[in-house]
Amino acid sequence: MNAPILSATGLVRRFGERVAVDGFQLEVKRGEAVGLLGPNGAGKTTTISMLAGLMKPDAGVVRIDGVSFEGEGDPRKQWVGLVPQELALYGEISAMENLRFFGALQGLTGSKLATRCGEVLEIVGLSSRAGDRVKTFSGGMKRRLNLAAALVHDPELLLLDEPTVGVDPQSRNAIFDNIESLRRAGKTLIYTTHYMEEVERLCDRVVIMDHGRVIADDSLAGLRQRASSAGRLTLELSAAAATDARWLDAVRSLDGILGAELTGSTLVLEAREVHSGAARALDCLAAHGVRVTGLASHQARLEDVFLQLTGRSLRDG
Ligand SMILES: Nc1ncnc2c1ncn2[C@@H]1O[C@H](COP(=O)(O)OP(=O)(O)OP(=O)(O)O)[C@@H](O)[C@H]1O
Ligand SMILES: [Mg+2]
Repeated sequence: MNAPILSATGLVRRFGERVAVDGFQLEVKRGEAVGLLGPNGAGKTTTISMLAGLMKPDAGVVRIDGVSFEGEGDPRKQWVGLVPQELALYGEISAMENLRFFGALQGLTGSKLATRCGEVLEIVGLSSRAGDRVKTFSGGMKRRLNLAAALVHDPELLLLDEPTVGVDPQSRNAIFDNIESLRRAGKTLIYTTHYMEEVERLCDRVVIMDHGRVIADDSLAGLRQRASSAGRLTLELSAAAATDARWLDAVRSLDGILGAELTGSTLVLEAREVHSGAARALDCLAAHGVRVTGLASHQARLEDVFLQLTGRSLRDG
């Protein structure tokens, strides 16, 4: 009974020569909201497809509630709802017909099916468009319906693969509000996104993957801890100091200073820890007779931690 709702061990998936997922591990407890982050091509969608039982791994096991999950035909498939990154909707039929189709695929019938379709349309705010063909919907409306389709059978575990991608801020907020209510209702969420602010709002745990592997698995607080002490110092120097930069090597070799770049009279330092870094740099500059006319510090954000770990920014495009 205490088994994690979802676990994955040693997941591997290849496409020809390319190894898209390379020993992915994850364990998720009931009610947890886990953010899954990674640069483009890191293997997130491939992993989510295996977790959802849509794609067979070349190696490794996915377990739901402690039992090996076989995907198609497995009764536990009903526990899982997937919001795919690529919209999976039929444009020629109405929103309601789409939901009836997806609900029926999940084994819902009769009045239960009708009630749930109505409920999820209400949740995503599309009740007034129930009878309209989906091809007449805006991008944001399609994304909202894509979410509704994953909810129709009321799954315990939701796998959300960039559910807010490419939509206007208003739809993004609407979708996000829906997801936050699911969280409050006790659903377990795995949430893939390229927006760190979404992870900060929704998740208590962050898994960062790259090259098909988990490279960090930490609480949001833990990740913040890594970010909080590191930071950047920007120092304005007197113009005279800037023309004679022999002191630069001395600053660069200071303990806790990871990098130093001088552009004109602006010196930018990367410090392992902002406060002690600032103190050491100021001492060193004073010892070399360099006058500092301004100092600003920027604490590293979670995006910077991601950049440090993966070498790429969260939104590489
Ligand atoms: N059907 C496929 N056939 C061949 N290669 C594939 C296929 N699907 C994914 N790949 C490759 O597997 C790797 C991982 O892709 P995946 O879509 O899982 O990444 P991702 O982390 O979801 O990226 P993104 O942030 O861009 O959505 C990539 O190198 C991709 O080119
Ligand atoms: Mg993807």
